[in-house]
Amino acid sequence: MAVSQQLEKTEQSKRVGFIYLSQEDCIRAGGLDMDGTLEAIQKSFELHGRKEVIQPSKPVIRWGGPETEETRGRIMTMPSYLGGDLDVAGMKWIPSMPENPKKIGQPRASAIIILSDPHNGFPLAILDGTIVSAMRTGAATGIAAKYLANPNSRTVGIIGAGVQSRTQLMAVTSVFKNQIEQIKVFDLNEEKTKQFAKEMQGELNVSVIPASSAEKAIRDSDIVITATMSTFPYVNGEWLKEGAFHSEISFWDTAPQELVHYEKVVVDDFEHVKHHGVDVSYRAVRDGFIDESNVFNLGDIVVGKVAGREHAKQKILFNPIGMSIHDVSEAFRVYNRAKSLGIGQDLPLWEHPHWL
Ligand SMILES: NC(=O)c1ccc[n+]([C@@H]2O[C@H](COP(=O)([O-])OP(=O)(O)OC[C@H]3O[C@@H](n4cnc5c(N)ncnc54)[C@H](O)[C@@H]3O)[C@@H](O)[C@H]2O)c1
Repeated sequence: MAVSQQLEKTEQSKRVGFIYLSQEDCIRAGGLDMDGTLEAIQKSFELHGRKEVIQPSKPVIRWGGPETEETRGRIMTMPSYLGGDLDVAGMKWIPSMPENPKKIGQPRASAIIILSDPHNGFPLAILDGTIVSAMRTGAATGIAAKYLANPNSRTVGIIGAGVQSRTQLMAVTSVFKNQIEQIKVFDLNEEKTKQFAKEMQGELNVSVIPASSAEKAIRDSDIVITATMSTFPYVNGEWLKEGAFHSEISFWDTAPQELVHYEKVVVDDFEHVKHHGVDVSYRAVRDGFIDESNVFNLGDIVVGKVAGREHAKQKILFNPIGMSIHDVSEAFRVYNRAKSLGIGQDLPLWEHPHWL
């Protein structure tokens, strides 16, 4: 081999590249396959329960106190590493700008995820994280419902007709396949509620009807979901029927004092919940309405360290802060699928490192 060829080969072997996946690429690679997402999220809860993850608390940029997250917005940074057979690291950068839908006709949340090889540290992929994030949030409620809702659940009451509510319903109807008979939805925006009900009924093949109030959506529902940008509490714990499972993924819908109506409170990671200092499960403990010893991590329930639902009459609240390990697990699933299908753009980080 000529010296120049040899040199070229050495140069080439120093290239570091990664795959870039746009939102459209993620969708083509199965990003909207809720059964797949549920598997990825089940896996991350198992690893969390077995303590095979590394997940530092998330730094949040905000322009004021916690309450300004629902008005001015925030940017969260969420890194983690998952062990076991996943063996992957990653990070989600996720701004939330509440005015976007009204002001510029764009979603509130937009995200970018980086996946890294934990052995050489190089990026594997940079991808749109908006779909991954919404899908994993739905799936977290789905997995929680599998362990905490009554197995014969048939009705769902959901508050909020935004982006997250879509994946919440996709997940619950995937977990309780052909079992959910009716979904009631309430949003402050009546037009949006009607449109959402129509679209989701078509997508899920389940009756989805608009409710005229949050109370009407919540009463008599086996599964209750609150997923809004509410700046004030409106849930009355007494509205929930005996045995109801309630997933509150947003922050201000239920007031801390209402948590006395729930027999069990489950989160995804209470250390993270405390660090963020916004979720109602944290405020209810801080203000003395419930005891921290009655707050459990779902991963511990998933691996059998802690009991899930113990009897049919228990009212249970799930209040996840949202974990990076879910984003990384789901993004890794989509990335692997994209790779096997040849989807995405191969981009260089460098062709040859400038400094060594
Ligand atoms: N815990 C998690 O892991 C997690 C993950 C993602 C998003 N979230 C949270 O989920 C929430 C919803 O996000 P989204 O993307 O669907 O937002 P979105 O802006 O798409 O939709 C929010 C909806 O809430 C409605 N709303 C506001 N106040 C209401 C009230 N009092 N009663 C009924 N409806 C009301 C709005 O009209 C809007 O339709 C946000 O608070 C977000 O921070 C949590």
